[in-house]
Amino acid sequence: MFDKQVYKIRRQRLAQFVQQQGGGVVVLSTAPEVMRNRDSDYPYRWDSYFYYLTGFIEPQATLVMLVQPDGVLQDFLFCRDKNAEREIWDGFRFGPTAAQNVFLFDGAYAENELASRLPNFLMNVRQVFYPMAQSETVNNLMRQAIGDVRSKARSGINTPIVAFDLTHWLDEMRLYKDTFELTTMGRAAAISADAHVQAMRVAQPGVFEYAVEAELLYHFRKGGAQSPAYGSIVAGGANACVLHYRANDQILRDGELLLIDAGCELDGYASDITRTFPVNGRFTQAQRDCYEIVLAAQAAAIEKICPDCHFNEAHDAAVCVLAQGMLDLKLLTGTLDSVLESGAYKRFYMHRTGHWLGMDVHDCGAYRQVQDVVGDANSPWRILQSGMVLTVEPGLYIRAADDIPQHFWNIGIRIEDDAVITPQGCEILTQGVPKTVVGIEDLMRQLREAKA
Ligand code: GLY
Ligand code: MN
Ligand code: MN
Repeated sequence: MFDKQVYKIRRQRLAQFVQQQGGGVVVLSTAPEVMRNRDSDYPYRWDSYFYYLTGFIEPQATLVMLVQPDGVLQDFLFCRDKNAEREIWDGFRFGPTAAQNVFLFDGAYAENELASRLPNFLMNVRQVFYPMAQSETVNNLMRQAIGDVRSKARSGINTPIVAFDLTHWLDEMRLYKDTFELTTMGRAAAISADAHVQAMRVAQPGVFEYAVEAELLYHFRKGGAQSPAYGSIVAGGANACVLHYRANDQILRDGELLLIDAGCELDGYASDITRTFPVNGRFTQAQRDCYEIVLAAQAAAIEKICPDCHFNEAHDAAVCVLAQGMLDLKLLTGTLDSVLESGAYKRFYMHRTGHWLGMDVHDCGAYRQVQDVVGDANSPWRILQSGMVLTVEPGLYIRAADDIPQHFWNIGIRIEDDAVITPQGCEILTQGVPKTVVGIEDLMRQLREAKA
């Protein structure tokens, strides 16, 4: 559902932050189109910040906001002009007049007027706000525009003297999802959960990893999602111990596990799910022992995903369960305290337990409390609050090695769900795909019976 008011309200909220800094001009461009080869480009994906403030998905667009010191906002869109010839080839474009009306801007211009008009917006303005050091295009745009203003100094025109990184405020805004965003994320999660179930249906010994990937992609798209939110990981056997495995080109073997980390992007919002299950539908004892530890680690982490917990409590809880499990399985020796202290557990669990999730799979937002003290790298972890969304994804990765019993070799397990912080605790968005040993084995049996 497209609600143009949502974007206008976000621009107005941003204007309040800009006013608190004394006002100024905001400049934010969308992402450029990128050529793949010759005249074929990569599928276009707009800039998340730009979309967050505009809802506008065409390339070659820039938002300019003027915020007076008293908070009065005027917002302008620069976008592609109407072009009958190009619209025959590439499809509809709004053009400035329609875009202004539909997306509730105070004004709109053709994007090829940006370079000449932007200096006028910046004259006698003290402060500018744009994404700092993030894009060559924006850096060049600002350098040129500010240079143009500076060249008028002899006519008594003042040039901006302060530049703020706009993403500082946008990151904070994006960290707290509104109802509109949570609804979309819930739908994205449901599509991804269904795709994982369908992947369990097709996975069996002799099938290639890419065939399972194809099933995921098919169900993402069939569910209405525009694309995967990131490159799908479909990793059989030892490949599951490669954290960012992407080749997806090996055959699935009887007796091995399959780890799938895949999620769709729907209307600009990501989902991120990992499930690990036996290719033949039944866990071996060693696989089950490892799996139960990861599942218990995830449950311990989810307990700590609630308002007033800090961001790292879930990770600490997961690490404790995983480390104790490694000791119980005799993968490590020592005491819980000693392996936590030495970090020995990192041999089998080397990543963190979650990240913010939103428009980007690894979404923006500070993980530690935002402080204005320069150079304070170790501020406390951020306190979780209602409306934040994060993943919870513990894992256990056991590579073949002489000091490891052979029945544990090449077991790689990760279980990942998406959680929204609610006033009471958290809501798991990705419940549509089972994760208990019994739930997985039952589902795979049912899917196989239905296929037979
Ligand atoms: N799929 C990327 C992640 O889980 O962080
Ligand atoms: Mn993740
Ligand atoms: Mn993931």
